[in-house]
Amino acid sequence: MNPQQNSTHLDHFQKLVRLLTTAAANAALYHPEHRQVLRLNKQALEQLHQLFNRHGDLILKVIDGQLIYANKPAAESLAIKRLISALTKNGISHLKIESGIYAEELLGLINILSKSPDKQIDIKDSEHIHYGRIEIRYKQASSAQFGALDLAEISTLEAGRFMELYQAVRSKQKLEMSGIHEIVNGFVNAFNSQSDAFLALAPLRSMDEYTYTHSTNICMLNLAQAKVLGIDGQLLNDIGIAAMLHDVGKMFISPDILGKSGKLNEEEWQIMQQHPRLGAEYLINTPGVPRLAVITAFEHHMRYDNTGYPKTKRPWQQHLCSYMTAISDTYDAMRTHRAYEEALDLNQIISIMLDLAGNKLHPQLTYSFLQVLSGLDKSDNGHE
Ligand SMILES: [Fe+2]
Ligand SMILES: [Fe+2]
Repeated sequence: MNPQQNSTHLDHFQKLVRLLTTAAANAALYHPEHRQVLRLNKQALEQLHQLFNRHGDLILKVIDGQLIYANKPAAESLAIKRLISALTKNGISHLKIESGIYAEELLGLINILSKSPDKQIDIKDSEHIHYGRIEIRYKQASSAQFGALDLAEISTLEAGRFMELYQAVRSKQKLEMSGIHEIVNGFVNAFNSQSDAFLALAPLRSMDEYTYTHSTNICMLNLAQAKVLGIDGQLLNDIGIAAMLHDVGKMFISPDILGKSGKLNEEEWQIMQQHPRLGAEYLINTPGVPRLAVITAFEHHMRYDNTGYPKTKRPWQQHLCSYMTAISDTYDAMRTHRAYEEALDLNQIISIMLDLAGNKLHPQLTYSFLQVLSGLDKSDNGHE
C-alpha cells in the first residue's frame, strides 16, 4: 500500500469510528431504531466496505487504553477515545468485523456501544461480528481540552456528553449546569479562535457525515446569528446555553411520540405542544440556569405573527433569542428533512425562509441569518 492509499484508508477508518460513535450516541438519546441511527448505520456500513476492499476483515484491539487497528495504535481523535471508552465499559477488548456483515449486525454493535455499563446487555457474537473479552487494564481517556480543537470534533464529543445530560433529565436526575457551561464555552471559544465565523460553520455542511445533534446545531446557528449582530460576552454565552436547552422539555414527552416516524394524531400533537412549557418549568427550578434559557424554552415555538404555541392571553413580546432560535430551528428542520426525504438544496431553503420572513419568522433576523448562510455557502464552495 503506498502512503497515499494508506492515508485515505486511515481516513475511512476515522470516519467509520466517528459514524459508529455518533450513531451510538443517537441510539442512547432516541432509540436504536431511530431513523438518524439507521442512516448513520448505513453510512458506517459503506465505510466498512471501503475498508474491507483494501484490508480484509477489520480487527480492533484495546490494549492499555489504546485502540490498535491494522497492528498500529489508531491516531488519537475524540471519536477514537469515545470508541475506546464504549468498548472498555462493556469489557470488550477485541473486536473482529468480517466482510459480509449486514446492516442488522452492525446495528447490534451500535446498540452495545450505546449502552451505559449499568444497563446489562448480552454481548453475543453474530455471524460476522466477534467480540473478545479479555481483561486488560486501561486508562480513562483524559477529559477534552477546548479551544484548539476543530469544531467538527468538538461537536462529536459534545453531542455525546450533551446526550448524557439530557438523559439525566429524563431519568429525573439533576441537570449539571457546569456541563452545559463547558459545552457552550467550547463552542464560543471555537468561534472566537476562527477569524471568520462563517468558516467555523462550514462543518454543518457535512452534517450528513457527522450528524450533529439538533441542539448543538441550534447552538451553533444561534451563536453565528448573535455574532453577526455584534453580540459578545455574557449575552453570547447565555444565547448559546438557551439554544442548548431550548428543547429540554421534550425529555418529558414519551419517546413513542418523539420517535414516531409518521404524522402525530391530534392527541399526540397536543402532548407534543406541551414541551415548551414543561421545559421552562423545569429550567426555572434548576439552579444556575440563565433566565434567557427559561424564556427561550417557553417561547421558541411562538411565531413572529403570534401564531404557534404556547398560546398566551395577553399580547406577548418575545425575546430576540426566541426569534433567533425559531429561525435556527426552522433551518435545521429543513436540513434534517433533506437527509432522509426529498432533497432541499440551499436555494430552496433560502426561498422558503424568505417566504416565512415577516410572518412566521422575524424579518430582519431572518435576512441576517440568510447572510450567514450565504457566507457559509461561499466558504464551502466546491466541496459537495
Ligand atoms: Fe421545540
Ligand atoms: Fe428544536
